Amino acid sequence: MNKALVSPSILSADFVNLERDVRRLFDWGADYVHCDVMDGVYVKNLTFGMPMIKAIKRISPLPLDVHLMITEPERYLDEFVKAGADIVTFHPDASRDPEAALKLLGDRGVKRGIVINPDVKLSDYISLLPECDVLLVMSVYAGLGGQKFIPETLETVRAGRQFISEHGLNTIIEIDGGVGASNAGICRDAGVGMIVAGSAVFNAEDPKAVVDALRGQE
Ligand code: DX5
Ligand code: ZN
Repeated sequence: MNKALVSPSILSADFVNLERDVRRLFDWGADYVHCDVMDGVYVKNLTFGMPMIKAIKRISPLPLDVHLMITEPERYLDEFVKAGADIVTFHPDASRDPEAALKLLGDRGVKRGIVINPDVKLSDYISLLPECDVLLVMSVYAGLGGQKFIPETLETVRAGRQFISEHGLNTIIEIDGGVGASNAGICRDAGVGMIVAGSAVFNAEDPKAVVDALRGQE
């Protein structure tokens, strides 16, 4: 069976006890800390920015997977890299020049990728995949934790997987939104190699068991 990397979203963590919760992710066996940056423009909500990434980096035993839901992300890419992001993904429909943004991130030596919202066509951006370490497919509309998984978005995963295998790329497909123990398997079967989950992990009675279930068994 396919196994996936697990990147829990701290959007569902207790911000008053963020250091404790970030350290717990390591204890629960997660691979990354998913950090959702929202600007109140590209999406309605506001979360946090570079200072928070920098603070989390100081105490996190795990690498940081930074998901930028911000307009014109190119304005801040350098600063997110300096703050300690290990993966940076952004929405290409929010960017003036996604190709240049990916190049900049590549030059800075971080892993990088594009994020496809449910109403965005992957075909419009598929030519960028050779420059992407990660293709993040949103399985809900970006902007809020705790939404319901949209199964049709698995078609985007399948289309991405097909392009990746046809072109011999190493791009990993990440999925984000409404994923938990019960639907992680269909995501992995569709070609997902990295799973984001916020509420399913942090609201669980046994978060470690959920992380194991998201990853899948050998
Ligand atoms: C939504 C964020 C997600 C969110 C996932 O805009 O990108 O990372 O935190 O939360 P759940 O897993 O609760 O849907
Ligand atoms: Zn996210």
